[in-house]
Amino acid sequence: MVSPEKQAFFEAQDVALTFDDVRLRTRSGHQAPLPDNLDLASRFSKNVELKVPFASAAMDTVTTSEMAIAMAKLGGIGVIHAGLSVEEQKTEVRRVKHHLNGLINRPIAFDRRRSLESILNECEDRKLDFRTFPVIDENNRFAGLITQNDLDFSEDLQLSVMDIMTPASEVTTADPDTKIEEAYSLMMEHKKKTLPLIDDNGEIAGLYIFSDVARIVRGDEAQFNVDERGRLRVAAAVPTDAEACDRIEEIRGDDGEFLDVAVIDSADGDSYYAFQTLELIKENFPDLDVVVGNVSEGASAGELAAAGADGVKVGQGPGSICTTRTETGIGTPQVTAVYESARAVEKYDVPIIADGGIRNHGDLSLAIAAGASAIMMGGMLSGSKETPGDILVLDNGSRVKMYRGMGSPSAMKASAASRKRYDVKGTGEPLAEGVESYVPYKGSVVDIVDMCVKALEKSMRYVKVDSIEQHQNETLFNRITNAGLIESHPHDVQVVSLKDKD
Ligand code: XMP
Repeated sequence: MVSPEKQAFFEAQDVALTFDDVRLRTRSGHQAPLPDNLDLASRFSKNVELKVPFASAAMDTVTTSEMAIAMAKLGGIGVIHAGLSVEEQKTEVRRVKHHLNGLINRPIAFDRRRSLESILNECEDRKLDFRTFPVIDENNRFAGLITQNDLDFSEDLQLSVMDIMTPASEVTTADPDTKIEEAYSLMMEHKKKTLPLIDDNGEIAGLYIFSDVARIVRGDEAQFNVDERGRLRVAAAVPTDAEACDRIEEIRGDDGEFLDVAVIDSADGDSYYAFQTLELIKENFPDLDVVVGNVSEGASAGELAAAGADGVKVGQGPGSICTTRTETGIGTPQVTAVYESARAVEKYDVPIIADGGIRNHGDLSLAIAAGASAIMMGGMLSGSKETPGDILVLDNGSRVKMYRGMGSPSAMKASAASRKRYDVKGTGEPLAEGVESYVPYKGSVVDIVDMCVKALEKSMRYVKVDSIEQHQNETLFNRITNAGLIESHPHDVQVVSLKDKD
């Protein structure tokens, strides 16, 4: 529950505030030291947890599988953008889900009569990044195993799989109901990197991969954000129309096992169509978490939560590449938008995702103190190695990557989902609500998120809170003037970087 002092602060404001209008008030910590490790765990949606409260934006220059894998390994989540065909988006989501595998339920298996060449071609076409496969016979029964080594050391690619595979009789296998701990013991005992599970008919019922099993059983990589089966969590953006359900059905698979969250992606998240799409998805997939956005009014966030949204994304126009506010004049500044939305959804226990406008690390802490459970970033993560797109070298020698708004002219030209996001109507040139830009190449997103985590932790230490929830409820704000803002930044000095000069 938000403290009465925080409520009083926001109620007293006569204007809507954004990050540069406020600073957090520190508190005295004389009673007790804070723990060594602060608890940054949070939620992206009602049932989808985060180990750090960060998400990568559903943008075509920010999140495909590479970014989503990195974000989930860092404890956050990535939202695969909707500007892809259904097949492409499914492939990207599956890549994240297959990246680590405790138990692979339906491993890809090849017929023993196939040539090595055809298998390598299929791996290439399907962009598979692993090369260990069970082999089956004509009756679909387990016949053996081929590994990366078998394929690498084969000089004749016309050979068939059965000529080089390790036959079933020499492979250690186990029953279909083998638990992960038993699998670990068996693989350790027999020094095996794979363990096929075979049912009474001799058919493959699953496959354990040692590196993943060991990681889960030994509790290594505790920071990874994984689902209950030990696979990285991932979200997918969908447009506001009936196509959303077909898309979700295809992406999540027959048993609904491949997708953690669907994110209804609209610049006008409280439109009739956004509510309709939410209702449709909830009707068809009642057990799937659905986040809806973007909105910037508390009332809209509350109505979406009442209509069944499992998370509400807040931010209309704060983004670094956005022109929605200048083109249309709408949009509540982000701190007030987040606070009012968080208050409105409180009784539904629905998390708020603050989306866009993070310019300085301190803004992350401000967004959480305003009530956000997660923060979505585009600009902050843009230009990193894990974003889609090539590194370009400009005439002056600097290395850059493209970062563009989903409502920029080129993005709208490239994708129907972008046109849908910005509800393009009529003919002729659509009204752009975003810009294209180059941003400096920044190296790995691992280092960027590491700094975000450190900054958030440091801020929480200053205000003496040890969890995200406490930060949301208790941390107080000061409103600042322009003089306060100038004072906040380095001033009256010429800033230099001495990092590489010692
Ligand atoms: P940042 O500030 O992190 O913002 O770069 C990323 C968020 O901006 C939104 N977005 C847009 N908003 N026009 C807009 O008004 C656009 O073209 C556009 N493209 C992205 C989106 O919510 C994203 O997460």
